[in-house]
Amino acid sequence: MSVRAAGPADASWVLECLTEAWGSVLVARRGQLLDASALPALVAELDGSRVGLLVLAVRAEECEVVSVSTEVLRRGVGRALIQRCVEVARAAGCRRLTLTTTDNNAVAIAFYRRLGLTLSAVRPDGVAASRRVKPSIPLHDEHGVAIVGEVDFELLL
Ligand SMILES: CC(C)(COP(=O)(O)OP(=O)(O)OC[C@H]1O[C@@H](n2cnc3c(N)ncnc32)[C@H](O)[C@@H]1OP(=O)(O)O)[C@@H](O)C(=O)NCCC(=O)NCCS
Repeated sequence: MSVRAAGPADASWVLECLTEAWGSVLVARRGQLLDASALPALVAELDGSRVGLLVLAVRAEECEVVSVSTEVLRRGVGRALIQRCVEVARAAGCRRLTLTTTDNNAVAIAFYRRLGLTLSAVRPDGVAASRRVKPSIPLHDEHGVAIVGEVDFELLL
């Protein structure tokens, strides 16, 4: 497993990955929309194939993980991406890593907690504001669970 910065040659793969994970390159959270395809990204490779993507946004002393996803589950790809993101954030002088997920995403919540991130805020009806800027956010996930709340996590660096 290796993790590297995404480059111009990854652009179409990044687009595919984001569309596969979120239905679009647009990521909505906190009622705001971000074009994840325009942000810096990290690519995880396993046996020479691209298997995971993390998109980050550095703002002053904070680094937000805008998207993290992998097609190869439970093989440490997500962990390797977050670990590299922590290194990148520290090198950029950030003091805090942040991210937002939705309350239905039990896997993501377990994953972040296992990696040592802690809950910093819960917005019980937060997805409503994000759905206003991205109406394509589904009402229910693939398991039929309603997508309603937003959950913020943080890691102090
Ligand atoms: C969340 C996600 C990135 C995790 O990536 P991953 O490569 O499968 O995770 P890792 O193998 O690095 O797992 C690290 C730890 O997280 C926890 N974890 C990961 N998947 C889990 C699951 N399905 N159930 C419970 N715990 C899980 C485990 O503690 C795991 O450690 P272990 O395998 O030693 O037990 C991946 O499930 C994914 O791409 N999901 C779809 C996109 C998504 O929801 N992204 C986050 C939204 S904000």
